[in-house]
Amino acid sequence: MKQIKKIAIIGGGGRTGQYIVNQLLEKGFYIRLLLRHPESFPLSNPHIEIIEGDVLDAEVVTSLVEDCEAVISTVGQRKGEPLVASVATENILRAIENQPSVSTSIRYILLAGLNIDTPFDRKSPDTQKATDWMKMTFPEIHADRQKSYLILQSSQVKWTLVRVPFIEFSEERSALKVSLEDCLGSKISAADIAGFMFVQLTDDTYIRKAPFIAGI
Ligand SMILES: NC(=O)c1ccc[n+]([C@@H]2O[C@H](COP(=O)([O-])OP(=O)(O)OC[C@H]3O[C@@H](n4cnc5c(N)ncnc54)[C@H](OP(=O)(O)O)[C@@H]3O)[C@@H](O)[C@H]2O)c1
Repeated sequence: MKQIKKIAIIGGGGRTGQYIVNQLLEKGFYIRLLLRHPESFPLSNPHIEIIEGDVLDAEVVTSLVEDCEAVISTVGQRKGEPLVASVATENILRAIENQPSVSTSIRYILLAGLNIDTPFDRKSPDTQKATDWMKMTFPEIHADRQKSYLILQSSQVKWTLVRVPFIEFSEERSALKVSLEDCLGSKISAADIAGFMFVQLTDDTYIRKAPFIAGI
């Protein structure tokens, strides 16, 4: 099994990201966080290194990824800000690809909503309804997210796009329903997302795939 010691995280100060940070620290990993506002990040820990900056800045992302064996992103679109998903994906993939020698083994695990479509989907009426609602309500954000999937598809990096329904910000854990075709539940806890992402660090099942995960 591949040895992972240091993980770069984007969105680690956000609502889901904090659960990921906490779980990784509990497991003894070193993490390097990209934060736009480090002063408002609540944790101080010798296993945390902070880089101040924006994921839209390719140079900063290169420094973030340097020497890391994995990258996790829970970056989310902020109202009134430039579209973030596709540029973030581009910058992270380039940064991984530019790492010397180890680039082929660096894992990139990112979070998105169930509204992203892939050619492998067989969405149920409920999942399709939620997808259509996102497309209608946030057309630009949806299109940018969909673009990031296209960018991933054309990359040889070992990415996994984790698609989720409504997130409950709780430590509650449950068995997960995982599918490459449809979202099999209406909600998931942030702790379960963090747990699933952690498993992906060393599990090859969903490399270059976009599983839906939901709680039971
Ligand atoms: N919440 C849900 O129910 C739900 C459901 C399905 C999917 N999702 C998706 O899951 C992901 C995480 O959701 P969340 O609710 O945890 O989001 P969140 O609390 O809004 O966190 C988003 C994070 O992204 C960071 N970020 C935004 N733009 C950035 C930039 N340009 N550079 C660096 N960092 C940036 C934010 O940092 P700042 O504090 O600096 O802004 C924040 O830490 C999002 O992609 C969201 O679309 C959420």
